[in-house]
Amino acid sequence: MQTSPGFEASHRQRFPATVSGNGFRQPVQSLDTRAVAILGHMFLVGTQRINDAGHLEIGGCDAVTLARHFETPLYVFDEAGIRERCRTYRAAFESRYPHVTIAYAGKAFLTPAMARLIDEEGFDLDVASGGELHVARVADFPARRLVFHGNNKSARELNEALDTGVGRIVLDNDLEIVTLDAAAQARRHCQEVWIRVAPGVDPHTHRRIRTGQNDTKFGFNITSGAALEAVVNVLGRQGLLFTGLHAHVGSNLKDMEAHLAALDAVLDLSLAIREETGLSVEELNLGGGLGIRYLPSDEVPAVDEFAARLTSALLDGLASRHLPVPHLHLEPGRSIVGEAGTTLYTVGATKSVPIPEAPGHRTFVAIDGGMSDNPRPQLYDAVYSAMIANRPAAPATGTYRVAGKHCETDTLIDDVALANPQAGDILAVQSTGAYNHSMASTYNRLPRPAVVFVREGTARLVGRRETYQDLVRLDIGIDDEAGAPVNLPS
Ligand code: LLP
Repeated sequence: MQTSPGFEASHRQRFPATVSGNGFRQPVQSLDTRAVAILGHMFLVGTQRINDAGHLEIGGCDAVTLARHFETPLYVFDEAGIRERCRTYRAAFESRYPHVTIAYAGKAFLTPAMARLIDEEGFDLDVASGGELHVARVADFPARRLVFHGNNKSARELNEALDTGVGRIVLDNDLEIVTLDAAAQARRHCQEVWIRVAPGVDPHTHRRIRTGQNDTKFGFNITSGAALEAVVNVLGRQGLLFTGLHAHVGSNLKDMEAHLAALDAVLDLSLAIREETGLSVEELNLGGGLGIRYLPSDEVPAVDEFAARLTSALLDGLASRHLPVPHLHLEPGRSIVGEAGTTLYTVGATKSVPIPEAPGHRTFVAIDGGMSDNPRPQLYDAVYSAMIANRPAAPATGTYRVAGKHCETDTLIDDVALANPQAGDILAVQSTGAYNHSMASTYNRLPRPAVVFVREGTARLVGRRETYQDLVRLDIGIDDEAGAPVNLPS
């Protein structure tokens, strides 16, 4: 949707430009102080703006038109926003460190279209299961630039990774070392591997997404000596070529302290490896990126600051230990796609309920999705901001509880200021790009939403909406031969 230059000028005046965390210039609302306080949920990210129809626009596409055309719930991805984040990451790290490769953590959101985009941006891709590997293959992602993760890779998955020719496999446990070595030797292949380590760092994030502490299922403990033993174990095997260490401490991190502490532990381990084996660690992967803004009040360091502190700590840490400079790898997921995703819902029933405690009543706003398209509030007490996409600039009329449509209390947003939500309104929930589509389910047999990429006024469907037919395609009918009783071997 194009706007006239005249409109642009008056629009700018009404919504003075500011620079958002990802570097895009954004309009913000100039409302009186009280309204701003009530509309504390209101922030625009990436290419989001308010268009001349007074609607939310993303990637040049009117959100209301998108909702009408593709129906709701709908995952909308701002393609320019994703690409911009990729470029910001690359520029921030490549300008500061001689050898660096950034991979995208596919678990955050992965479809063939996303894999293609990531390839075009020169990122590697981290896959964490045979299924994610399959998506990468469907997208023809260059195998050499794939990193294969997981804390319990099956023999089948390891063989699929070898068949595909993935660049690096990250070994998590003794069983994987033995299984992969045998499988690689059987093919007369020597597979490049990294050792996943637990650096003994407890990051400040939700307990369900901490991974770097000693008490973790992931990797080999540095503190106990298991990590060093694993490296020595790998070095003795013909099917495996040890090239690096991998540490991922946790997700949605609001500061860099955990990354820096993990770096220190991993460098100490690199020194111990050199002393024990004479080998230098060639590659160092420091895992995922930082968190994102779910609420306007959220503050997360800029990627540039993250890169500056991490690379200078790395260079200092190497110098003080007299270690050679390794190739640095990172694999952000959430901070690449999180803010670029918006979920559009249609408002259905609203209900004002008297409650004994303050404030005396609650207004529920029910939407046509819920925990099936976004399980994060249920799992991690995740918080979100939202707006009525068909009148985002209208002043809020109160705070509302956004409820899903599942057969349990699936609150999507506990309390959000909205402008008089009514049946038929389009609710836009922001920062839903990471771990929403990838963790979606069909609970209550709700079909999963469609996915569109928007860019410069065009929308392309990259994931079609599930149909009722899709929902039963794996179910075996009563008369289906596949469902005939089988005699199991004793
Ligand atoms: N590398 C590894 C090995 C990981 O396990 C993860 C995330 C990442 C990279 C990417 O981390 P990020 O940059 O996205 O923070 N489902 C949860 C998040 C789980 C994260 C799992 N690992 C959520 O919805 O918050």
